[in-house]
Amino acid sequence: MIMLSSTGVKTILGVSLIVTAAAWSHLLDGRIFAQDAKSQAAIEKTFPNSNKCKRCHERVFEEWETSPLSRSIHSPAFRAALDAFLASPAGKDKALCFRCHAPHVREFQDQAQLFIDQAKSGDPQIDGVACAQCHLIKQVDRTKQPPEPKYEPPGSKILYGPYKDFATNLAHQSMELGLFRKSDLCLNCHQSVPSAANLGKTNDLLGNWDQSKAVKSGKECQTCHMPEQTGESANGEKKRTVANHTFPGRIGKLRQEAAKLDVETKVEGDKTTVIVKVQSLVPHNLPTTHPAWASVVLDLEIRGKNLKTVFSEKRVYGRLYQDVKGQKTNFDFDAVKVLEDTVLKPEELRVETFTFPTPKETKTFDVEATLSYAPVTGPAPFLQRIEAESSKGSQDPVFQPIEIVKRTDNIPINK
Ligand code: HEC
Ligand code: HEC
Ligand code: HEC
Ligand code: HEC
Ligand code: HEC
Repeated sequence: MIMLSSTGVKTILGVSLIVTAAAWSHLLDGRIFAQDAKSQAAIEKTFPNSNKCKRCHERVFEEWETSPLSRSIHSPAFRAALDAFLASPAGKDKALCFRCHAPHVREFQDQAQLFIDQAKSGDPQIDGVACAQCHLIKQVDRTKQPPEPKYEPPGSKILYGPYKDFATNLAHQSMELGLFRKSDLCLNCHQSVPSAANLGKTNDLLGNWDQSKAVKSGKECQTCHMPEQTGESANGEKKRTVANHTFPGRIGKLRQEAAKLDVETKVEGDKTTVIVKVQSLVPHNLPTTHPAWASVVLDLEIRGKNLKTVFSEKRVYGRLYQDVKGQKTNFDFDAVKVLEDTVLKPEELRVETFTFPTPKETKTFDVEATLSYAPVTGPAPFLQRIEAESSKGSQDPVFQPIEIVKRTDNIPINK
């Protein structure tokens, strides 16, 4: 009774007296599910599911599986933000979020609702940003804003990649494409994000990254975020130089290379001054401010007698947006203006000064400076929504800060 054809449903409608509302909605679900399965199969004919690649590219698959990219339409925060987006005026463009979070929607615009339903289910069967979604990109058009990927021709069986000297295989053709060693491949999703008005350069996620020392010395996004290693590219093939697909970012060792803290403390009688120099080592903005709540926080804590905190203060690096009604908004898709921009620019040195009363009744005190990615912020109903969507509730990782660097100094007080 689960996979009913439409005639089957009509027959039952004729004797609807015995069909309860619950059973009826269950039958409808069954029908929608059957339709979705058909559409999904059509989509996966063009963009094969990553499981298909796993068979021969086990190493790559396992790395990718641990990366945030493999969960691009899975997080409770994404579902909550997608809901808010669909309820907003901009939400008419149903495919918008998926253009980067599950970019095959570009070739299946009329199936946008399927992508929404899958994401909302919390356990999507379709891929987000997976193997085919990158390896079928033939070209990125940087004259468009945001830059656009070209999947050409739709249904192509050629997979593009970095190798000229690839081993051949029976599942697909391979072709070397220089694009795979260039930042351009990443820019169509990582350079700009939606906003209700064209915010141009003021909403550029990366900033003047192409003027940074790192990029001028020849580094591409892949150099740092897909570091080279030695291993098998396909199961059983000879070891060679391969690219790490865990996409280190907030998670992973790369984080330790994000910034340096230099702390100087001056005790002058009753008054103490701490100067923290935050040196960003990142060749692009830190943080990249999408979603709009993404921010990095510098926390200063002073611990005096018995290690009790006697002073603490924060500096926040991020962006503050205004919506069309002139109010602050937590969502970039509602933004018509950037109210405040404190992100650390590429390789910027930011100097922060803190002043406070010198701790009393102690011979020394601790100065602790911590730089971290901040947890999600926003109006209470939005935060509650994320909590409700998450199987971990208020323990969802999005509510936890992620430490980048910390420095602790013990300062003597010379009376
Ligand atoms: C089709 C769009 C798309 C392309 C192309 C793309 N990304 Fe991403 N990337 C995303 C999305 C979406 C996420 C966020 C996933 C999540 O957390 O939900 C992400 C996350 C990341 C992260 C993790 C960031 C963090 O906060 O830890 C890194 C690193 C990254 N991408 C690097 C790259 C690099 C390098 C390239 C080019 C080789 C690239 N991406 C190409 C869409 C894309
Ligand atoms: C132009 C590409 C692009 C578009 C369009 C886009 N995103 Fe993203 N999104 C990204 C990238 C890239 C990241 C990863 C950013 C990072 O980690 O620095 C991301 C990260 C996120 C995250 C945090 C990671 C997670 O999965 O919880 C949320 C939430 C999110 N996006 C929601 C949305 C929503 C809702 C929309 C539609 C209104 C949207 N995005 C549209 C590219 C995009
Ligand atoms: C965000 C885009 C992106 C995603 C998602 C992605 N790749 Fe890649 N892949 C690349 C880029 C870029 C390179 C080349 C990196 C380099 O050489 O600097 C690459 C390299 C490769 C290579 C050759 C080098 C190696 O490490 O073996 C294979 C094979 C490969 N990818 C397969 C896959 C498979 C299979 C998946 C899914 C499990 C996948 N890729 C997901 C972008 C991506
Ligand atoms: C039947 C096994 C098999 C399957 C299935 C398979 N591949 Fe491959 N693939 C290979 C072999 C073998 C190579 C060559 C590796 C080498 O030269 O070291 C390769 C090479 C590649 C390359 C590198 C091409 C280049 O020129 O740089 C990419 C990218 C790639 N595969 C992606 C994928 C993706 C994406 C899928 C799933 C849609 C997939 N492969 C499915 C066996 C397979
Ligand atoms: C010289 C190395 C380097 C290069 C080149 C580089 N990055 Fe990063 N990136 C970093 C470091 C270090 C961080 C901070 C630590 C972290 O979160 O990974 C970072 C962070 C990120 C993040 C997560 C930060 C956030 O605020 O959510 C994303 C997404 C990202 N980079 C994308 C890119 C893209 C896209 C490119 C190419 C245009 C690129 N990066 C080029 C080093 C680099």
